[in-house]
Amino acid sequence: MILNDTNGKRFVNNDILQRKRKVHESAMKVPTSSIASTLFLLSFASSSLAVKSSDFKTCSQSGFCRRGRALAERAKVAGEAWHSPYSVEPSSLSISSTESSFTANIKSSLYPSINFGLDVRIQDDGVVRVRMDELDSLRKRYDEAARWALIAEPRISQNIKWTVGKKDVRAVYGDKKDIEVAIEFQPLRVVLRRSGKEQVVVNGRGLLHMEHFRTQESENPVVASEEGLDEQEVMQVKSTAWFEGESEDAYWEETFSSWTDSKPKGPESLSIDITFPNHGHVYGIPQHATSLSLPTTQGENAFFSEPYRLYNADVFEYIASSTMSLYGSIPVMHAQSAESTVGVFHLVGSEMWIDVAHPADKSTQTHWVSESGILDLFILPGPTPADVFAQYTRLTGTVPLPAEWALGYHQSRWNYVSSDDVRGVQKRFDEEDIPVDVFWLDIEYAEEHKYFIWDKKTFPDPVEMTNDVAATGRKMVVIIDPHLKRSDNYPVYQQAKELDVLVKTKDGQSEFEGWCWSGSSSWVDFFNPNSWDWWKSLFKTTESDKWSWTDSTDDIYIWHDMNEPAIFSGPEITMPKDSIHYGGWEHRDLHNINGMIMPNVTGQGLIARSDPPKRPFVLIRSFYAGSQRFGAMWTGDNLGTWEHMTVGIKMVLANSIAGMSFAGSDVGGFFGNPEPEMLVRWYHVGAFSPFFRAHAHLDTKRREPYLLDEPYKSIIKDILRLRYSMLPIWYTAFHESSITGLPVLRYVHASVAKSSPLTTKVALGHNMSFSLKIPQALPSMTSSTLEDPVYYDYFSHQAYRGTAKGKTITVPAALHQVPLLIRGGSILATRERPRRSSPLMKHDPFTLRIALDNQSGARGELYIDDGTTFAHEQGNYVWRAFLAEKGRKGKGLRITSRDLPAAVGNEFDPKNEYARSVKGVRVEKVVVLGLAGKPTNVTLEGGEELVWNFVPGTAATEKKEGTASVLTIKDPRLGIADDWAIVVKT
Ligand code: NOJ
Repeated sequence: MILNDTNGKRFVNNDILQRKRKVHESAMKVPTSSIASTLFLLSFASSSLAVKSSDFKTCSQSGFCRRGRALAERAKVAGEAWHSPYSVEPSSLSISSTESSFTANIKSSLYPSINFGLDVRIQDDGVVRVRMDELDSLRKRYDEAARWALIAEPRISQNIKWTVGKKDVRAVYGDKKDIEVAIEFQPLRVVLRRSGKEQVVVNGRGLLHMEHFRTQESENPVVASEEGLDEQEVMQVKSTAWFEGESEDAYWEETFSSWTDSKPKGPESLSIDITFPNHGHVYGIPQHATSLSLPTTQGENAFFSEPYRLYNADVFEYIASSTMSLYGSIPVMHAQSAESTVGVFHLVGSEMWIDVAHPADKSTQTHWVSESGILDLFILPGPTPADVFAQYTRLTGTVPLPAEWALGYHQSRWNYVSSDDVRGVQKRFDEEDIPVDVFWLDIEYAEEHKYFIWDKKTFPDPVEMTNDVAATGRKMVVIIDPHLKRSDNYPVYQQAKELDVLVKTKDGQSEFEGWCWSGSSSWVDFFNPNSWDWWKSLFKTTESDKWSWTDSTDDIYIWHDMNEPAIFSGPEITMPKDSIHYGGWEHRDLHNINGMIMPNVTGQGLIARSDPPKRPFVLIRSFYAGSQRFGAMWTGDNLGTWEHMTVGIKMVLANSIAGMSFAGSDVGGFFGNPEPEMLVRWYHVGAFSPFFRAHAHLDTKRREPYLLDEPYKSIIKDILRLRYSMLPIWYTAFHESSITGLPVLRYVHASVAKSSPLTTKVALGHNMSFSLKIPQALPSMTSSTLEDPVYYDYFSHQAYRGTAKGKTITVPAALHQVPLLIRGGSILATRERPRRSSPLMKHDPFTLRIALDNQSGARGELYIDDGTTFAHEQGNYVWRAFLAEKGRKGKGLRITSRDLPAAVGNEFDPKNEYARSVKGVRVEKVVVLGLAGKPTNVTLEGGEELVWNFVPGTAATEKKEGTASVLTIKDPRLGIADDWAIVVKT
């Protein structure tokens, strides 16, 4: 059984996705999302607090990174004289019968006896996959990363014709036949061109090096002396040293601090350079605390001196501006220019370091060095950001539609110490009428940190406690860490031991032991398929023949922390690289993948425990490419500082670029006691993050919103209520993201500012532009605002008009003012009744906010379903398209609501069970911003006059700023799931 298959059916139902994608594509006249229409701005005062860094390797302390950088340095010194020793043997070229792919042998002139195989395929959607491995080698390189990261074997195009020339093999393809891929023979180079212009060049700088397997004694021609060698041998030694360096550097063993990494397989690293000519910015490769447009690590005036490191790690008090590894790793990068976005996905699960340089203004060089694994590189041809998102998520999957409650507010701390504490916190929220959906329990709920096992001294009644929380529709999330206490009275550990599914030490026989919260612990090897059914069965709430979690309920969901894995007694606080996993693979080969299987299996356990099944919720700290299918993520142990607040937004955006859209940071900061002002700002950030959770360290003072003095308490309450009123927008955006792969949180090229020394702008929008940096400086409206020349303040209805060249505007953002703008041309659906939790809003009416563009038009959409089950996969949902356009003879306005799937001819039953269940749910208010003149009447089409009110604006003409006119149509008695039209005559 392949885990991804089982999982694929549940989480990424490709058929349904394909159908919905079609609906979406055909409905492109409707904006990609109504959330696209809001722009949220944050302004912070600057502050600087000291942060600690911990004992993690720098590149020069890591043997293979050192070797990789030294290779690049030698190439630099050699300049023009440098050439890659790797070349394609033209005679070995074998094109498949369908012409879609080809294989060829590759030789390195330095090691004539070593064979490498190249495999190039062009996929249906134009993505180029380049694979290279050593052939007939002493050992096998790890080649299973694709198995975990990809949702399925990518579909290969049937429309490719390779042309084999003397110097290269090439194919021209794409709808406009404007894309060309060329594999040049000598030296080996892979080039992607669009309209004749180079976009991506692989091995253009000759830094490709796949260290072949060797024995310690044998055949390494790198020797100190040339004595006794014949002329040819001397030549070879010289050239090898020229390329690989003069000594064996950390080939067979490596020490760091007090740790020795035995390297039984010897050197097997992989170095590859990827250049993006004509692309001046690169983004992605999370997770790092840095700017969205990745600063340089090489070249003159490099911003950082260290390469970006991808090696999942639990970094204590991480630095807010650094290339250091953090908890998750996704080796996907977007490169962008004003005209084009392309991407690469370097599918390797081992530790990786990436250098970035901009040798010329509008070009980017990158160099990727990984410790082991085959070359499995996807070139994503774009040419738009939306195309790159679609290309990447077709490979690794989209974020599945989450339960709606998961988009509400989550209240956490380390720790709510007893069931009465939980009840007390809930009571205070209710007394203050502050909405919250989820209460979280950190590790102290578990007896001796034996996860699943309640500490009955403090949590004597977990089921009753959860039921009390669930009485208002709320949920609980409980932590289950991956380390299992090695204890005779811990059934979970005992069962794992009996099943023989624990990670082994380097001898491959003994159980690996390390130290974590629970003291001496062992780790389940989730790469071992025998662990899956057993792990799933633990989540059963009913008795079974084995131990299961009978003192839990369907309202408890799961948080997997420390899944890098964090091991306090291990090198770099993680697992020794020579530990052994299922299949005999070393931990080094799959370290970055390690954290992604546990949440997958847990999710399946959560689904299996109830009938009908409910959507799972799992929060994860460590992640890899494809983890978006299995859980939400948060950015770990941030500090309560302005810098961390700011960089947290960038990290969420960078994760979103790499598919992990359901992301957020600890509101308030994990460490520290933020001042009330900072806490308020942090709630602003949280309310506009896809995942919205306040969390805090054990040693911090309690800071639940109700504890604050006025005015802070009321301000936070208002922010939370704003988030809840906008839940339909978030849910619709998640729905869109689950279909298209576009992130939920995005940034647009219009930017608006408040005068303040440190400003971070976040936009929720479809109008993505990667040219926008998020600077810690005064922003200005530098980019084009041609498409969307008007924005409206969400609250005051002030109209702001951009210009083609861009324009700086100032938006008030006092503590009580959320700087939130709606893009002209959009229609937003909200629910404005304050409730204690989101499930209580189920039958609440909607308000439609119509923000007209300069042509008096607007579009929007709304997606709703039962919010918890999988019934939507059987067509049980409501998906509406709203449209406002000029009325007859270009006068007045006609506002319509229609069924979006049916409107584009999709098979869909508008009277489905869910639609019937919301029959009585109505639109209670329609607000139109920016109508040119006062209406003479407002009617239902062909029907009665409605109750309305019009307040003229001060922005009388399209050219002027000032408040927009506001037409409010009161309680038009329209069903949210019904077709209707309103006619506004002016
Ligand atoms: C580390 C996590 O990052 C943090 O959120 C959690 O509170 C502690 N572990 C204790 O579980």
